[in-house]
Amino acid sequence: MKILILPDREAAVAACVDLIAQTLTATPDAVLGLATGGTMEPVYAGLLARARAGEVTLNRMTSFNLDEYVGLPPGHPQSYHTYMQERLFGPLGFDPARAHLPRGDASDPMAEAVRYDAAIMAAGGIDLQLLGIGGNGHIGFNEPSSSLASPTRVKTLTRATRAANARFFGPDETVPQFAITMGIATILRSRHAVLLATGGPKAAAVAAMAEGPLSARCPASALQMHPKATIVLDAEAAADLELRQYYETVHPQGQEVSLD
Ligand code: GLP
Repeated sequence: MKILILPDREAAVAACVDLIAQTLTATPDAVLGLATGGTMEPVYAGLLARARAGEVTLNRMTSFNLDEYVGLPPGHPQSYHTYMQERLFGPLGFDPARAHLPRGDASDPMAEAVRYDAAIMAAGGIDLQLLGIGGNGHIGFNEPSSSLASPTRVKTLTRATRAANARFFGPDETVPQFAITMGIATILRSRHAVLLATGGPKAAAVAAMAEGPLSARCPASALQMHPKATIVLDAEAAADLELRQYYETVHPQGQEVSLD
């Protein structure tokens, strides 16, 4: 794991945008795995700004989102389809044929999950997988107790996750109980995993992910097994890391240190 600690949220977001832009500059038709949630909103705003400035080309990539709520059709205001459409795909004028999310309204969600994994494989796999982290250590919607070898499938959301995501729903709406999520095995097959976490409420989950045991109790700890995982943090999200000083020595201000 490469652990980059930036002084604040803005710098952490910029470092994450840099990593994505570097991948797309090297490989404009890269396959990106995309994430949703509040943490990712400034990442998509940053990517859009760079695309508008002509610094990166986003229109040639292919994307696969991590997850979608079961029962929500693409046009539902709280679906992740809508989230992506509003924050990235719409403003970009992105070709819908290049943007993939699981269909929450599929008549057979289990079959939809199997189809989705096969579509990722058929596209050649994911070059860069963007990830956030839940306060309980989930990645995608792989909740605690998820198999660390899981394929894409339907998961039951925890009460904590539904409560955390209620802020995106209206007062009279309920957060769905189930989601289709890329599995942990799917995420581990990505060629580069980039996890962004910002803010104090993520500090305990970040410490469990990076320094705790490899355990289904903290599904994000599976990234300890990823051959190329970059963890981008702001100071608050890094606050509970025991070896923080070491990570800051290895990558001061999130930078590479030359060996000579
Ligand atoms: C959501 C998503 C995850 C996301 C996480 C954190 O439920 N399924 O992909 O990383 O929870 O969200 P936020 O960035 O809003 O804290």
